[in-house]
Amino acid sequence: MSTRDKLKDLIDRRSVARLGGGEKRIEKQHSQGKMTARERIEVLLDEGSFEELDMFVMHRCVNFKMEQSKIPGDGVVTGHGTIDGRVVYVYAQDFTVFGGSLSETMADKICKVMDMAMKVGAPIIGINDSGGARIQEGVTSLGGYAEIFERNILASGVVPQISAIFGPCAGGAVYSPALTDFILMTEDSSYMFVTGPKVVKTVTGEDISVADLGGADVHASKSGVAHFKVEDEDEGLLLIRKLVSYLPQNNMEEAPLMETNDSIDRIADELNDIVPDNPNLPYNIKDVIFTIADEGEFLEVHRNYAKNIVVGYCRLGGMSVGIVANQPNYLAGVLDCDASRKAARFVQMCDAFNIPILTLVDVPGFLPGSGQEYAGIIIHGAKLMFAYGEATVPKVTVTLRKSYGGAHDVMSCKQLRGDFNYAWPSAEIAVMGAKGAIEVLESKNIAKISNEEKKAEYISKRVTDYEEAFANPYQAASYGYIDDVIEPRNTRFRVIRAFQTLQTKKLSNPPKKHSNIPL
Ligand code: HXC
Repeated sequence: MSTRDKLKDLIDRRSVARLGGGEKRIEKQHSQGKMTARERIEVLLDEGSFEELDMFVMHRCVNFKMEQSKIPGDGVVTGHGTIDGRVVYVYAQDFTVFGGSLSETMADKICKVMDMAMKVGAPIIGINDSGGARIQEGVTSLGGYAEIFERNILASGVVPQISAIFGPCAGGAVYSPALTDFILMTEDSSYMFVTGPKVVKTVTGEDISVADLGGADVHASKSGVAHFKVEDEDEGLLLIRKLVSYLPQNNMEEAPLMETNDSIDRIADELNDIVPDNPNLPYNIKDVIFTIADEGEFLEVHRNYAKNIVVGYCRLGGMSVGIVANQPNYLAGVLDCDASRKAARFVQMCDAFNIPILTLVDVPGFLPGSGQEYAGIIIHGAKLMFAYGEATVPKVTVTLRKSYGGAHDVMSCKQLRGDFNYAWPSAEIAVMGAKGAIEVLESKNIAKISNEEKKAEYISKRVTDYEEAFANPYQAASYGYIDDVIEPRNTRFRVIRAFQTLQTKKLSNPPKKHSNIPL
């Protein structure tokens, strides 16, 4: 073959590989509103930055006459590229090739980019769209999954890992995404479950659709498996680009500092009136977040799951900051099992990747009752406490209103290594709310009063006494548990200044193999 022919041969081989499973299967993919693996990568990465690897890898299976059907690339497109100029490693399963099912060689390809991402310290983004283990290969496919799982585990806390689910993801295959930091699902075209509807019907008799069992809605709102639900793939890929912008490349670096036109000392008068006079009335904590964040931008994580706590990323003075905030607008911002798990995971993610944490507190306590106790609120609440107490990143806490009981301690209090703990004048920091406290302290005295009017008068007086003593931030401030009581309108610059002075913070935990967080 002449040099020219060799060149032409290369170009032909590339064209064949780029077609994946062929025009017909690509058409089918498009007709379902799905992109091909390469189209997805194109949207995800900076234009022209993708360097594909292992385009000519083919499977080695000889079962079921598989040796007669080989497709270069073998069901996954892998390589590296950039997002906003920063390197990321990517793999995208190609459903047009054997349904994106995982073969031994496909697992090798994925492991290769994961290993390289670890070597250079860059995020790994996996786009999942697969029929699961390659049935014809049997056990080597299972081994391949386990190779990927092991790498997911070792990469955890070292480089950010993001999983997009843009199609089927079933059986044990769900566990690779589950081991990563973020899962994003598309509405209508993606699903995740350990066993599909047919097996469910056989084993338990339950009749359930694919969407109701493991669709994006279910995982974004009920199970909390998915951190993000998006309408379509374009939205999902752009969201991943945004998410990456808030994260560092690896655990030895910090998230990029962005330029902002939003003045650091911008005063927000509207915050002075945001907390209603009546402590039982709600307000939307997201209004506070949007008001203090640079340019009002906030990337919410787990938006539809455990809405009584809000978590996500914003920038403050250009710094990437993780926000954890009780939401008085939903279940009065109470801490329950789901909210505790959600926030604990987020705090751990921030701490692993050197992202400072701002905690906005307005919490009436832990949700009482047998439902929560049986569901293990003790352990789930302890997760959040553990995550905060172990975190060494800069931590600033602002108590806006209620901060009662155990929930006060959990929500990044001073003694759990809060660096700067501020409170608004509307803060109430106490063991419990006034009514509950008076019922406990005064029940015998109250019982002695037979006249209902006098009883009400007595209770009201005691409640007022209690509120005067505790329904304010000054008792906590007198002990130094609160560093300063601040005017709400100044929150942005007080918090930014605090984080700026904490940039050189050094704190480490005692040496150990690893901690034993109450899982
Ligand atoms: C080999 C597969 C495959 C698989 C799909 N294909 N899944 N090939 N192994 N697991 C092939 C099909 O034969 C078909 O090939 C092409 O991919 C597209 O599949 P269709 O069925 O035509 O597509 P669709 O109708 O969209 O249905 C998609 C699907 C279905 C729901 C995913 O294919 C399906 O149920 N597949 C099997 C899923 C499964 O049970 N997997 C094993 C799970 S257990 P042609 O040539 O016709 O285009 C598991 C264990 C992992 O994964 C354990 C890890 C620890």
